[in-house]
Amino acid sequence: MATQTLHFKNRTIKGVIEVPGDKSISHRSIMFGAIADGKTRVWNFLKGQDCLSTWECFQKLGVPISDQGQYLLIEGKGFEGLREPSSILDVGNSGTTSRLLMGILAGRPFHSVLIGDESIAKRPMSRVTAPLRLMGVKIDGRMNGEYTPISIRGGELSSIDYQIPVASAQVKSALLFAAMQASGITELTEKGNTRDHTERMIQYFGGKLEKNGLTIRIDGSAQLEGRDLVVPGDISSAAFFIAAAILAPNSELLIKNVGLNETRTGMITVLERMGANLEIIPHSIDSFEPYGDILVRSSKLQGTEIGGDLIPKLIDEIPILALLATQAEGRTVIKNAEELKVKETNRIDTVANELNKLGCQITPTADGLMIDGVSRLKGGIVDSHGDHRIGMMLAIASLVAEDSVHVQSTEAIDVSFPNFFKALTSTMK
Ligand code: S3P
Repeated sequence: MATQTLHFKNRTIKGVIEVPGDKSISHRSIMFGAIADGKTRVWNFLKGQDCLSTWECFQKLGVPISDQGQYLLIEGKGFEGLREPSSILDVGNSGTTSRLLMGILAGRPFHSVLIGDESIAKRPMSRVTAPLRLMGVKIDGRMNGEYTPISIRGGELSSIDYQIPVASAQVKSALLFAAMQASGITELTEKGNTRDHTERMIQYFGGKLEKNGLTIRIDGSAQLEGRDLVVPGDISSAAFFIAAAILAPNSELLIKNVGLNETRTGMITVLERMGANLEIIPHSIDSFEPYGDILVRSSKLQGTEIGGDLIPKLIDEIPILALLATQAEGRTVIKNAEELKVKETNRIDTVANELNKLGCQITPTADGLMIDGVSRLKGGIVDSHGDHRIGMMLAIASLVAEDSVHVQSTEAIDVSFPNFFKALTSTMK
């Protein structure tokens, strides 16, 4: 297990950087490339562990995927081109791979088994397996389909009208993939607006859907065609650099080509409200996803309340927002965020436990966190618990800690941000 010893107090963050490609979009680029007809070329694909798991699973399903140096080439033959895998599909640590793959495999007339790591084995799957059963799939797993290993015998699917009981883009996307293979029109209603990358890609690859408020209607006759695409930088990775430049004195950092899809930019909305010195420079170039540059300078923050519809738009940024809140004047309350309990770790507990070890004052609540600022952070030994976003957040904490912060299990960071430490130190002056 890798431990990093970090002591970055009073360093300045300066310069221009790009962060790696968006994780959600990279996963989907392989999936859409595989189920479309013809060649899909993907630039700036994220070669993090999670997306490599998706790559490996689709290779096992018979899809040729090759690294062409500048881009990834996926040679799809439609849903019908997928083949019964001769071995188990390992999704590693990736919730997105597991949930979305179930939706794709639901309509395929063959048998497959999904497993993952220890963290995946604890993450709820019946949010996907239950509605897929309603569509007619034979799908099962431990505890009546709640946990991996999951076994799927796909086949003919019927359409459904379904209210998704959790605000989850993974569930919505899994059901959209199944609906594209079902007979008739499927109607899905979300509990709240979640990231819409799947809907955008369906349309970009030549498919059709109708969206009306929180309801999506889609029929099963989708014919998708391969496309070229450039994956924008991941705003969820940029979040750690935004935080670094806000916290470090005399900082000014330009983060280029970051995805600015408004279903993902909740952290920017909140930081502007907290008083952060941010400039957003959108690019007007036509793309299937909006993107632009973010200029960040050192800032003094005020505590705030975060909840409701904003939560899905910043769900992955809550660990780093919690760290920022420890350095804000007054109290920050995060509520309606119970989904944090079923991420790579229970992030309500890991954020509070690990940051409190460094002297923060964070109280975990039933649906979020209560954070009192301004805390003076001391050094100490903390652990990512195998959660990439907790590992990166703890590394950024070292910018404000008086003594060394020893972050254990930093190898988890490779899930979404290979070379994170190199990128971080390259911005330090
Ligand atoms: C993701 C959706 C989110 C997010 C995850 C990636 C996706 O999960 O937390 O990191 O790619 O669809 P939920 O939609 O399940 O909340």
